[in-house]
Amino acid sequence: MPRVVVFDEFGGPDVMHVVEEPVVEPAAGEVRIRIEAFAVNPLDLMMRSGASPAPIPLPHARLGVEGTGVVDALGPEVAGLEVGDPVILAAIPDASVRGSYAEFTTVPASRVVARPAGLGITEAAAIWVAYSTAYGALVEKAGMRPGDHVLVTAASGGVGRAAMQIANQLGAVPIAVTRHAAKTDELLAAGAAAVVAGDRGDIAEAVRDHTGGSGADIVLDVVMGPGQQDLLKAARPGGALVAAGFLDPRPTPFPSGPPLTIFSYRSFEHTLDAVVVKRMAAFLNAGVSLGALRPAIDKVFALDDVVAAHRRLEQGLHAGRKIVVAVPD
Ligand SMILES: NC(=O)c1ccc[n+]([C@@H]2O[C@H](COP(=O)([O-])OP(=O)(O)OC[C@H]3O[C@@H](n4cnc5c(N)ncnc54)[C@H](OP(=O)(O)O)[C@@H]3O)[C@@H](O)[C@H]2O)c1
Repeated sequence: MPRVVVFDEFGGPDVMHVVEEPVVEPAAGEVRIRIEAFAVNPLDLMMRSGASPAPIPLPHARLGVEGTGVVDALGPEVAGLEVGDPVILAAIPDASVRGSYAEFTTVPASRVVARPAGLGITEAAAIWVAYSTAYGALVEKAGMRPGDHVLVTAASGGVGRAAMQIANQLGAVPIAVTRHAAKTDELLAAGAAAVVAGDRGDIAEAVRDHTGGSGADIVLDVVMGPGQQDLLKAARPGGALVAAGFLDPRPTPFPSGPPLTIFSYRSFEHTLDAVVVKRMAAFLNAGVSLGALRPAIDKVFALDDVVAAHRRLEQGLHAGRKIVVAVPD
């Protein structure tokens, strides 16, 4: 019988266990996906530990907001998809019910996109959330254009690496922010045009040096906290800051400094919108086929080792690369 990862109480990685259950028949407008691999997302850790802001009904909660597989069955009234099509899961807002940590899941047909040709299963499992978030925040929200200087926080992370690749694909200039100067070479290799390090002096001054004195046109802040004040000073007056993450749990002071447009970004505002999803998928397809977009993979685990996969992310051993779990056929 097909296997699925569930948890019955909130807690550490050990609360997850694998159970066997029959597949669900897709209802009208739905497709059943045979999952080939899923990526572990920081949101999964929040859901499992009870820290997710969205209510998670227990027991028997599922997990998983990203993954890839093939269409296994079509419900009535589904057009444009065939059994056997390779797809990526584009949005699972109800992951506690339809999560990707399983051999099968059933989702509305509108929530899958074709898997880009030339992308392996492991990378396909890891691409959508980080790249759709970075694309949505930078392109759809902040209107990034060629030549823009883009300050990318947590640049060594999943969203940060995606943001730098997307900026390069569009001819913008990504400036990476890290807390540790020791990561400079790694970030330059990952696509940064320049790197500014929190442990190497004033961020705003370093950004002005790299932008001919003008400051960054766009700041992508996935860290927040008190450090946001330095990012605001690093931006060009009239530029934009997109707040899209919250890696720093400390409070974020009310933004002050030069006049900027401040956006708050949650990817579901786009990944549940079929028109934007079509643009995102087309952009990712183009970037993958050009070789411009490719997620960095840390390690691939087996389904039975999902607890170890969570531990690795929790301990920060992934160094910002994606952890993937391969699901046996
Ligand atoms: N808006 C949305 O819809 C959306 C979608 C996806 C993700 N997110 C959010 O975006 C954020 C980034 O996600 P991700 O998957 O890219 O994370 P990630 O891969 O885990 O990011 C890891 C990197 O973040 C930096 N970092 C970690 N903790 C930090 C801290 N306290 N202060 C500063 N930097 C820190 C580190 O870089 P250095 O050591 O080099 O500084 C680390 O290498 C998360 O908060 C996530 O929830 C939001």
